[in-house]
Amino acid sequence: MQSSARSSFATAPIGVFDSGVGGLTILREIQAALPCEDLVYVADAGHLPYGDKPLEFVRGRAFAITDFLLGLGAKAIVVACNTATAAAVDALRERYTVPFIGVEPAVKPAAAASRSRIIGVLATTATLESARYAALVDRFAQGTKVLGQSCAGLADHIERGGLDDAETEELVRGFVAPLLAAGADTIVLGCTHYPLIAHIVGKIAGPQVAVIENGTAVARELARQLVAHGNLRGEGMGTPTFWASGPIAEIEQVFPRLWPAHGRVMPLPETASGSGSA
Ligand code: DGL
Repeated sequence: MQSSARSSFATAPIGVFDSGVGGLTILREIQAALPCEDLVYVADAGHLPYGDKPLEFVRGRAFAITDFLLGLGAKAIVVACNTATAAAVDALRERYTVPFIGVEPAVKPAAAASRSRIIGVLATTATLESARYAALVDRFAQGTKVLGQSCAGLADHIERGGLDDAETEELVRGFVAPLLAAGADTIVLGCTHYPLIAHIVGKIAGPQVAVIENGTAVARELARQLVAHGNLRGEGMGTPTFWASGPIAEIEQVFPRLWPAHGRVMPLPETASGSGSA
């Protein structure tokens, strides 16, 4: 009985959400690792940035988006946002039975790789101030100096299409230079928007500094969870669909540059795109 219930659920989609286009850096890893899966992506651009907002607000958004994704029959949900993971993943796991896969700054591999024992973490203010981040550093970076660098305004800038210009480079330099000056030899991209400007971080930091992100680890963990739940879809060609809160015309400006075959971005229904108070 258990196995037939499980196999019919295998064709259900996987939900993935972020405050905007940043989670596409996770989505592309998921699609590469699990090409048979249907993916539903939600960009909560109407509430971007999450990184400057109280964690309770972000938690409320995570609940509203999860309700929407479960309404579409999602069999697993990837919180493709470090800030939303810090704010909500424990509460989500408590409230719902579907598996949740979160994204956290790659402090563990960075601490293991650093020779100078000094690492830098580029992330949002909310992530760096969260108890979850403090616990991560405490657990995995003993004996390593961890320099958290809050990158206020960077996610919004990327969202407006600032991916490869002098202004973006200047903004990123302001965040990366103090880490280099302090001796960091490893830089963690602790926000899912930042892999979109990894080339700029690498250019500023130089070849002797490692730049670390963790999209492939998230895709691997998702696959592991699907196998554990008997829900992995093993055949066919999956399709991604895209939803967003906020003005669709604005998100449509940057989406085609990041996901050329994205089709239409659909507006989130009113119930999921609201103020998000829990
Ligand atoms: N992409 C989100 C993250 O990984 C943050 C962007 C925002 O501040 O909304 O933290």
